[in-house]
Amino acid sequence: MTRHFWTGRRLAWGLGTLWVLSVLIALGSLRFLVAEISLVMPAMVHHLLAHPVVLYLHIGLAPVALGLLPVQFSHRLRGRRPGLHRWGGRLYALCVLMSGLASLWLAYTTAEGVVAGLGFALLAVVWLATTAMAVIAALQRRFARHRAWMIRSAALTLAAVTLRLYLPIGMTTVGFEASYPVIAWICWVPNLLAAEWLLRREAHDAVPAG
Ligand code: HEM
Repeated sequence: MTRHFWTGRRLAWGLGTLWVLSVLIALGSLRFLVAEISLVMPAMVHHLLAHPVVLYLHIGLAPVALGLLPVQFSHRLRGRRPGLHRWGGRLYALCVLMSGLASLWLAYTTAEGVVAGLGFALLAVVWLATTAMAVIAALQRRFARHRAWMIRSAALTLAAVTLRLYLPIGMTTVGFEASYPVIAWICWVPNLLAAEWLLRREAHDAVPAG
């Protein structure tokens, strides 16, 4: 029998760390609610001047989706309050839809170049698509499928966390200009591969040894 690294206590600690980071980054991203955008998000000023509604839709709703992840993936809460899980799911899907569409426009109009723009645009498309698949599966009451698509969607929402972990590394090594186009891709492609690996590992372990 294969012994995996990410099981039991390690998995619980890993997930716990991810959820704490999600909530902290979600709260930090809402800093525009308490201070001038030009002061707290200076790089977003060109978006603010050109399309404020699009910018606010993204920075207002994407953090809500991120902050909802620990709630939606809580096994205990889902068992005890299934109604809360359903309403949380509707809110998550709505936030992804609105902020995902907005992020497509932000990606198209980013001042950081075509490679970064393409990375974010593709992320937006895959984020919208995986979340739509999760919603469709839930409506069809195919819950194993719903869970698998939600794991993929969550891995992409967590790009907001990985991006903010990689940024300081990029800035202190090769600098912002050189690292940002790379980070626009590596903030989500490895996350999606990790989700796929987890799902395949589960499917493999579920097959009885013959
Ligand atoms: C997963 C799909 C996402 C895509 C495709 C996406 C895309 C973008 C793009 C293109 C920008 C403008 C970047 C620029 O022009 O330099 C941006 C900014 C921003 N996004 Fe997202 N984003 C996503 C998810 C999230 C999530 C889940 C959060 C939650 C925290 C978030 C929070 C923000 C914030 C706060 C900014 C303003 C920049 C800053 O941090 O100062 N985004 N996003």
